[in-house]
Amino acid sequence: MINPMSQIKCIDELEITNQTLFLRLDLNVPIKNGVITDDTRITESLPTIKYALENRAKIILASHLGRPKTSEDKEYSLLPVGQKIAELLNIEVILTEDYSSDFMKPTLSGLTKNQVILFENLRFNPGETKNDDDLAKVWADYCQVYVNDAFGASHRAHASTHALPKMMKQKACGFLIKKELDMLGLLLDHPKTPYLAILGGAKVSDKIKVIENLIDRVDTIIIGGAMGYTFLKAQNIPVGKSLVEPLQVGYARELIARFESRNKNLLLPVDHVVVSDLNSEDPKVTQGPQIEENFLGVDIGPKTINLYKAAVNSAKTVFWNGPMGIFENPLFSKGTFGVAQALANNTEALRIIGGGDSAAAANQAGISDQLNHISTGGGASLEFLQGDILPGLDILREKRRS
Ligand code: 3PG
Repeated sequence: MINPMSQIKCIDELEITNQTLFLRLDLNVPIKNGVITDDTRITESLPTIKYALENRAKIILASHLGRPKTSEDKEYSLLPVGQKIAELLNIEVILTEDYSSDFMKPTLSGLTKNQVILFENLRFNPGETKNDDDLAKVWADYCQVYVNDAFGASHRAHASTHALPKMMKQKACGFLIKKELDMLGLLLDHPKTPYLAILGGAKVSDKIKVIENLIDRVDTIIIGGAMGYTFLKAQNIPVGKSLVEPLQVGYARELIARFESRNKNLLLPVDHVVVSDLNSEDPKVTQGPQIEENFLGVDIGPKTINLYKAAVNSAKTVFWNGPMGIFENPLFSKGTFGVAQALANNTEALRIIGGGDSAAAANQAGISDQLNHISTGGGASLEFLQGDILPGLDILREKRRS
C-alpha cells in the first residue's frame, strides 16, 4: 500500500517562525445553547496550535462549524470555540469575520506572542464551500505558510482546504492529520482478520458507498441505528413507524444478496427497543425483528446487543462508525454503550472509531482511552477507508527529491 503520508510534509518540517500561518482546523464541535458538549476536536487540535505558538508563528486559526445557510445564522458562531481555546491554552483569541488585507495586515503586525486570530465560521462566506479562488487569494495575500490539520474536513474541496493550499508554496499537514493517517492506514494495510465493521447512524444513503467498498475488505459488517430498519424492510420485515429510506430499500436488498454471494456476514438487529413516540419514557423491547404498526425503533434490543458483542469479542480488527440508537437519550443508549463496552473489553483487537457521534458515545461510556484510535473524521474517515483520495490531503502532496 502507498503510505498515505508520502509526499506530504508535516508542520515540523517547515520554517514557521515569524511567518503568518493559516492553520485550517476542524473545530466543528457539537454546541447546545452556546455550550460545547464534546470538545474532542478542539483538544485534538491543541498539539499543532501549541507547536505553532512555541515556534512563534503568527497564527490564524480557521474552521467551519455546522452548515449555516447565511452569515446571520449566529448559532453557528465560533465564539464558544474561541473561548474554549483561550481557556485551554491561556492565550487571547481574536475572533474576526473581516479577512480583508486592510484589516488583517495591521492586526497581524501587532499580534503579540500570547495572541492568535480565529476566523469566524468560514461557511459564513459563500466562497468557502464553492472552493472560490478569489477568496483564497485574499488569504494568500498575507499568509506565508499553510497547514491543514482538519482531518474531518479533508474530504471537502473547499476554499480553505483546496483553493488556498493550491496556491501556497509552503504547505504541510499538522500532527492530528499525521496521527489519523498513521492509525487509519493500519486498516487499509493488511488488517488482521476477522475484520469487523460496525456501521450505525440514521441514513443508509450516507453509507452506501462505504458498505459496498467494505464488503471486499472486511469479514463481517454489523448494521445498527435507523439504517437497520431500511435493511429489515428490504427483507419484508415490518418496522412500524421507524425511520426508513424508501428509495434505498431496493439497494439494501441488493447489498444483502451481495453479502451472501461473497460469503461475508451481514448482521442485522434481531430485536429492538421501541416507543410509541420519541417523547415516550416507556420504551418496550420487541420479541423479534418485527416492529408493531404504532411503534418506532430507537435502539437495538438485548438479544441484538449479545449478538453484536459476540462478533466484537471474536474480531481482531474493528472499525466502528455510527451509534446503534438515539443514545443521547439514556433510555435508548444501552445498545450503543453495550457495543462500546465490548470494544473496550477486546484488548487483543485493533480498535478504531470514526465519527463525531461514535466518539461522543465512547467518551460518555468512559472507554475512549481503552481504544487504539478515535478518528475526528466522520465522512472523512469513511472516505479514507474506502480508498478514496481526499482532496484536502492530495493538494498537500509535493514531489520530493529523495
Ligand atoms: C464533520 O463533522 O464530519 C466535518 O466537520 C465535516 O463537516 P461537513 O460534513 O459539514 O462538511
